[in-house]
Amino acid sequence: MTEVDFCFSPAQVHLFDIKDKIVVVIDVLRATSTINTALDSGIKKVIPVSSIEEGLIYKEKGFKVGAERNGKKYDGFDLGNSPFEYMEGLKGETVVLTTSNGTRAIKLAQDAHKVVTGSFLNLTALCDWLKTQPNDVLLLCSGWKDRFSIEDTLLAGAIIEELNEDIMINSDAAFAAHHLYMSYQNDLMTVIKSSSHYQRLANNGVMKDIEFCLSKDKQTAIPIWKEDGMVVLEN
Ligand code: MLT
Repeated sequence: MTEVDFCFSPAQVHLFDIKDKIVVVIDVLRATSTINTALDSGIKKVIPVSSIEEGLIYKEKGFKVGAERNGKKYDGFDLGNSPFEYMEGLKGETVVLTTSNGTRAIKLAQDAHKVVTGSFLNLTALCDWLKTQPNDVLLLCSGWKDRFSIEDTLLAGAIIEELNEDIMINSDAAFAAHHLYMSYQNDLMTVIKSSSHYQRLANNGVMKDIEFCLSKDKQTAIPIWKEDGMVVLEN
């Protein structure tokens, strides 16, 4: 039986031995929702990078680069981090993306057996695939500047609930994430409204993004790390 563990902050990932695990990187608002939407909309590859400087290097090489800091598009780049910006006009292309937390978390998971990203958008597709995998799973939240994030933890709880019959919950953190989700599963928006990043994005006027990123099962693509970026997992 597969064991599932939960890491609520990238600052704690060194505490986990990930080399034989599947790491599911989570950044509900918005990075992993945006990566999912990009690949589900026909973009060939999303190359996540941790710094603005790396993004600029790719831009100089002619790549389309998306950059966000503090919930806002970073000046001088082609795109921001709204999933709506990746839905049209980029089919078949490779884009580069740097965000405050999500892309850094993906890079921190590089030593894992497999790295995939999760969102509410591809929840069932992701969990159906995880049920077919023999490896233990680590749910890694991107959080906010290494701090705990409610929305990421709720998605981790939702994944644990979906996998429930097939897994062993292997930690207090995973138990807590599951129970937080079970308490609010019928009204996620109420609890997410109290999250710091919800307020940050709402103040930036991107409520549309928040509602979209909290919608379940709109997409079937499962982004997986391959060579230098995220591509659609071929089942
Ligand atoms: C992040 O990486 O922290 C988020 O995706 C930021 C955002 O809202 O764009």
